[in-house]
Amino acid sequence: MTFPIDAIRAAFPALARTDGGVPRRYLDNPAGTQVPRRVADATARCLIETNANLGGFFVTSIAAEAVTDAGRAAMADLLGARSPREIIVGPSMTSLTFRLARALTREMEPGDEIVVTQMDHDANVAPWLTMAQERGLTIRSVPFDAESWRVEPAALDAVLSDRTRLVAFTYASNLTGSINDVAALVARAKHAGALTYVDAVQFAPHGFIDVAALGCDFLACSSYKFFGPHLGIVFGRAELLQELAAYKVRPSSDEIPVRFELGTPQIELFAGLEASVDHLAWIGELAGETGARRSRIRRGFEVASGYEAELAQHLIDGLRAIKGIRIIGISDPSHVNRRVPTVSFVHDRVDPDTIADALGRENIFVWSGHNYALEVVRQLGIDEATGVVRIGAAHYTTHDDIDAAIDATRRAVA
Ligand SMILES: Cc1ncc(COP(=O)(O)O)c(C=O)c1O
Repeated sequence: MTFPIDAIRAAFPALARTDGGVPRRYLDNPAGTQVPRRVADATARCLIETNANLGGFFVTSIAAEAVTDAGRAAMADLLGARSPREIIVGPSMTSLTFRLARALTREMEPGDEIVVTQMDHDANVAPWLTMAQERGLTIRSVPFDAESWRVEPAALDAVLSDRTRLVAFTYASNLTGSINDVAALVARAKHAGALTYVDAVQFAPHGFIDVAALGCDFLACSSYKFFGPHLGIVFGRAELLQELAAYKVRPSSDEIPVRFELGTPQIELFAGLEASVDHLAWIGELAGETGARRSRIRRGFEVASGYEAELAQHLIDGLRAIKGIRIIGISDPSHVNRRVPTVSFVHDRVDPDTIADALGRENIFVWSGHNYALEVVRQLGIDEATGVVRIGAAHYTTHDDIDAAIDATRRAVA
């Protein structure tokens, strides 16, 4: 099947925008994606038609409650959760992770251990470091492998002990793009009797997630990275959420998941959240799948990930052909399925900000710096102050966008 790129692009109004007649090349996707019209429409509709706080006896309040239920149900479909009660929604993955880290460490004893990795974004490191400091816990850090670019299960084994209470690790790196063998890492952690907290923020826009098959206890993502509104979402196993004490105000509900959602929820963004999941399912429909929403999502990711892998390899090959460029991550085409299309590089002479600025002036949007993957640049010995250039495709990216980025990079370092 030919990937329906024209139909997909037509769904995103932002892709047609130009600045002074110059098209926008959105290659800043690892930092945030554009939204399809249905996400913007659903959000606006909620604000205009059903804008009320929850829990009332009147029509807008009842409708607003239905909007939050539908957003949660959509997320349960996206992640493979057994119930919408396992879906916690909040302002960002970072804020939810700090919140849950506090709850999860509440019963831990001084000397208990938490494992973090050097492959993670700081949002899945700093919350654990902070709680470790407060509660006298010990942090163990696992490096990623210099050849496979992922955390090898054997490396995790080396830091697990009978004091390990929790292992926090990433599904895919937001700097190198490499994907961990999450099921294998979860199995090792479980064997040691530890809980697992998986950061799927970078993986969720690119691949099908099945929390049941992975066996993880918690999995976090952010909908603004998968074509939705600015929200963070955490799946948590119902039995665990049930046991965990929440830091909350007294009058609010003790039910899960809402006891972990502080204050009034971002109701209109729940409407956009459902629409973003429906967008992913729609790609599956374009590919001929007519089954339940989760089956359509699965099919959508099957076709989109094949298309994105081609874009990623094209980008890597083009960049590698430029003298002085070093790709920070997997570049072997036979391993392209072990990475998401987030490609970082350095040049031996020109610094990342200079390159990103040159591309920005051609309306090609990319990021430079460490992108909060502090531990990654530290492990690789890359200067934290300068970092890397990061170019990231999404399923609406074209070959032309990639060619434009490669050509502009060549000019920037000439
Ligand atoms: C891998 C990863 N984890 C966590 C985050 C933080 O997400 P949020 O902005 O929702 O807090 C990001 C954001 O870039 C990320 O790339």
